[in-house]
Amino acid sequence: MITQLQTELLDKSPRKILRTALDAFENIAISFSGAEDVILIDMALQMKKNIQVFSLDTGRLHPETYRFIEQVSQHYKIKIDCLSPDAMVLEAMVKEKGLFSFYEEGHQQCCGIRKVAPLRRKLSQLDAWITGQRKDQSLDTRQSLPEVQIDTTFSLENKGLIKFNPLLNWSSEQVWDYIDAYQVPFNPLHKHGFISIGCEPCTRAVLPNQHEREGRWWWENITKKECGLHSDNLKPAKNSS
Ligand code: ADX
Ligand code: SF4
Repeated sequence: MITQLQTELLDKSPRKILRTALDAFENIAISFSGAEDVILIDMALQMKKNIQVFSLDTGRLHPETYRFIEQVSQHYKIKIDCLSPDAMVLEAMVKEKGLFSFYEEGHQQCCGIRKVAPLRRKLSQLDAWITGQRKDQSLDTRQSLPEVQIDTTFSLENKGLIKFNPLLNWSSEQVWDYIDAYQVPFNPLHKHGFISIGCEPCTRAVLPNQHEREGRWWWENITKKECGLHSDNLKPAKNSS
């Protein structure tokens, strides 16, 4: 099935990929970060009334992002499933290491608790998910992104999971063109120099000639910046087929 889908969707438009995803899977959800991936919601609602949308509420998003998620929910009259980290695990980490341990020892543990574990829980209930990843978001890790892939990170032993990336070939310019043309609401942080938006302590605005990824986990001396949601991007390309 995956090979057939990959052949069918190769180099196709975001709309075609999204429509195929929504037609092929009933139990599928859009993973919405509270940034410009809002256009996935806008497009999907033109195709189907009942779409599932979820956001990972890490507890550390910007106030603007929380308000924006709520605004999107009201604007489109949809429910957005906000997923929280496990309270006991989170409390134990904060008790032991404080609220900003990621600046000292890297973001992996905090992202693991606040993002990856809630995502794993959610994905175990789905057959497929849709992300807003684009190749131009990372020159290091997203250049080989496929239209559709088997999610080798979150598939269960007894249940495969399919991941669609409808926006992969769009540039940031095309996304903003869409937002402008269709009057799509957007996160006000984008007006203040933020391009890529994640958690508040781990995201900063970038200068005009800096790549958007440089605003994420900027204190870390690593090139391959992924937080664990899209670990497949760090694996050899064969995993995507
Ligand atoms: S991240 O892995 O570095 O944080 P990025 O911010 O580039 O990801 O966003 C890429 C896609 O990952 C988004 O379009 C969205 O599908 C998903 N994503 C990222 N953060 C979240 C979040 N907090 N909640 C839900 N989905 C998210
Ligand atoms: Fe924690 Fe930063 Fe990762 Fe958010 S991005 S989960 S605050 S390490």
